[in-house]
Amino acid sequence: MKYNSKLIHAGWDSDADPEGAITVPIYRTTAYQFNNTEHAASLFALKEFGNIYSRIGNPTVGALEARLTALEDGAMCVALSSGTSAVMYSLINIMSQGDNFISASQLYGGTYTMFDNILPEYGINAKKVDITDFKAVEDSIDDKTRAIYCETITNPGLVVADISALSDIAHSHGIPLIVDATFTTSAIQKSFDFGADIVVYSLTKWMSGHGRVIAGAVIEKGGFDWGNGNFPLFDKPDTSYGGMRWGHDLGELGNVAYSLRLRTVPLRNLGANMSPDTAFEVMSGLETLALRMERHCENAKQAADYLDKHDLVEWVRFPGLKNDPAFELSEKYLQGTGGTMVVFGIKGGKDAGQKFIDNLKMFRHVANVGDTRSLAIHPATTTHSQLDEDQLIAAGSPPELIRLSIGIEDIEDILGDLGQALESTS
Ligand SMILES: Cc1ncc(COP(=O)(O)O)c(C=O)c1O
Repeated sequence: MKYNSKLIHAGWDSDADPEGAITVPIYRTTAYQFNNTEHAASLFALKEFGNIYSRIGNPTVGALEARLTALEDGAMCVALSSGTSAVMYSLINIMSQGDNFISASQLYGGTYTMFDNILPEYGINAKKVDITDFKAVEDSIDDKTRAIYCETITNPGLVVADISALSDIAHSHGIPLIVDATFTTSAIQKSFDFGADIVVYSLTKWMSGHGRVIAGAVIEKGGFDWGNGNFPLFDKPDTSYGGMRWGHDLGELGNVAYSLRLRTVPLRNLGANMSPDTAFEVMSGLETLALRMERHCENAKQAADYLDKHDLVEWVRFPGLKNDPAFELSEKYLQGTGGTMVVFGIKGGKDAGQKFIDNLKMFRHVANVGDTRSLAIHPATTTHSQLDEDQLIAAGSPPELIRLSIGIEDIEDILGDLGQALESTS
């Protein structure tokens, strides 16, 4: 199946369902009856795949995982309770105390805090570098570095990551490139085609689109050699899993060693599983992802053009604008679109910014992105408020920045609302 068909059909075959259900049923069950003790033992030993307990896997969640794997042309996916847990698990799955990873300095505020305050408490250090500076990226790698991590388009700075260049650097050191593809989705970027090894999502955003659930996922491309000696957690016998050496003992399943470990170690033991109800909601949204993204991108382009010409606007960042520093990368990585987000600095600084936000009528003022509705926020006083001024600038979110997530409403209404709110600041 091609992409648009997969959005609707992948991971579920209604012909194979005893009731012929067209949409995936919600399996609200905690546990599953084993056929016999041999069956139970073989499930626990990963000799066969099947249902054990809904923290570890659930048929409704499994259908979503299969769909996400197919959409990304990947090998395996683990769905999680949030984008935040997906970010966390994607990293702790391959590193422990004393290890580090190279991280883009431009990041979503919550991820920034996780990397700056939470992971270091457990001895895992993020070495933050400007990911457009490849020399700095390469020079920061040492023998304890386990991955390079970045967002495909950074939140909110809208830096477009050069995935091919970063994955070349990662692979030349035998480590993976992990990308948070929340801002692109597989509808506008197939990160694996450019060399990423692991894709992380907040499914809360465009992938669902309806703004009804918090959800995340980690998807593995397959084929990375986790037993190459750079990952002690994949070399030493895992005492929590029958002495399994994840990088060596899985035979053909070694192709998805990362996902199998993620499910059976972090997910099984820390428990940030997705509920079947959430998986159902995400799949409902996914069906229209490609259509929505098309409209989001068209509307964002028009909104950026409008703001770029407006007298009361100091500067605009939108990768699809010809004068944007990310324009060339957007041609390569965003299928010639500029994505769906626009950020700008308003004349009059912080006060004008607050007035602008308070006077918006149709745009919703919320701490979210990727909804069908147009959304606006001032990150410095909200999503990124835990950062000081230097950190704000390093994270690509200067104090005057206003972030717009452009929805799929009529463009006349979007521009009308932006215009009247801008006028209110003059
Ligand atoms: C790029 C990015 N990654 C991860 C997250 C965290 O996702 P969630 O809110 O689903 O935990 C967000 C949230 O805004 C985000 O923008």
